[in-house]
Amino acid sequence: AAAAGAVGAVIYNNTDGPVNGTLGGPENARIPTGGVTAAAGAQLAALGGQNVTLELRTIQEARTSYNVIAETKTGRKDNVVMLGSHLDSVTDGPGINDNGTGSAALLETALQLGSTPKANNAVRFGFWSAEEFGLVGSTYYVDQLSFEQQLDIALYLNFDMIGSPNAGYFAYDGDNSDGVGAGAGPYGSAQIEKTFVDFMQAAKGVALEGSDFTGRSDYGEFIAVGIPAGGLFTGAEVLKTPAQAAKWGGTAGVAYDPCYHQPCDNLGNVDRVALERNSDGVAWALGVYATSTESING
Ligand code: PHE
Ligand code: ZN
Ligand code: ZN
Ligand code: ZN
Repeated sequence: AAAAGAVGAVIYNNTDGPVNGTLGGPENARIPTGGVTAAAGAQLAALGGQNVTLELRTIQEARTSYNVIAETKTGRKDNVVMLGSHLDSVTDGPGINDNGTGSAALLETALQLGSTPKANNAVRFGFWSAEEFGLVGSTYYVDQLSFEQQLDIALYLNFDMIGSPNAGYFAYDGDNSDGVGAGAGPYGSAQIEKTFVDFMQAAKGVALEGSDFTGRSDYGEFIAVGIPAGGLFTGAEVLKTPAQAAKWGGTAGVAYDPCYHQPCDNLGNVDRVALERNSDGVAWALGVYATSTESING
């Protein structure tokens, strides 16, 4: 709403959020012009020099998109090991680290596994659609399952950004003890976290840290319905600390992924060593849980 004595305007654009200021003043620079309609442009011109409150609204377009689900023919169908990654990117960029890396690792793991491995538990892959629009694909998938079908999923492993160029090495904090928000919030599985921590230490010499289950990726709905979850992550917009740079290499004071959600998230935006290590972690965890999930659910 406009402040007293001011004039209100609604600008339809592709960016959300209110902008307050005087047109023609410094705040004007914050108003994106691409996509502003002619009518809104005329409205803006008429308001020149006055104090206004502008409301930017997103123009949304309905589209249908698809998850891709694949499952082994072998293994128990009532004790499924599920792994997932999102296929989509933000509209601003190509999304190679976010999330070409997780999807590439998962696809290669699926190809190496083949359709009929000697597995005790069935392995199911979920390549999610529309994660960036609010976890749409994975949420839809979990919610359209019957309660029985949800119970048939023993655990869910998520891989969203596993080759960040200034990589951190994180497992989702299932024991809820070592992430930034230790002791609070939703959590997944301590046993799954330990599986990743132990493998990365023993096989790669890398000491993982916990990353909070913030609800920012596709594990969200799995946890919400009580399915144990975990996964690997190399970090997004948060800055690497000096202690982490000393431990893992890379640059302190710089984001794990400086190109997060930007046009520069291209093929150059991948730490291939991190991607290699984490891809092996994907395959390892799959092998562990396809053999047995007893460590998780007895
Ligand atoms: N889900 C986020 C994205 O796709 C990335 C992310 C994952 C951020 C996990 C924080 C924690 O942009
Ligand atoms: Zn993203
Ligand atoms: Zn992502
Ligand atoms: Zn932890």
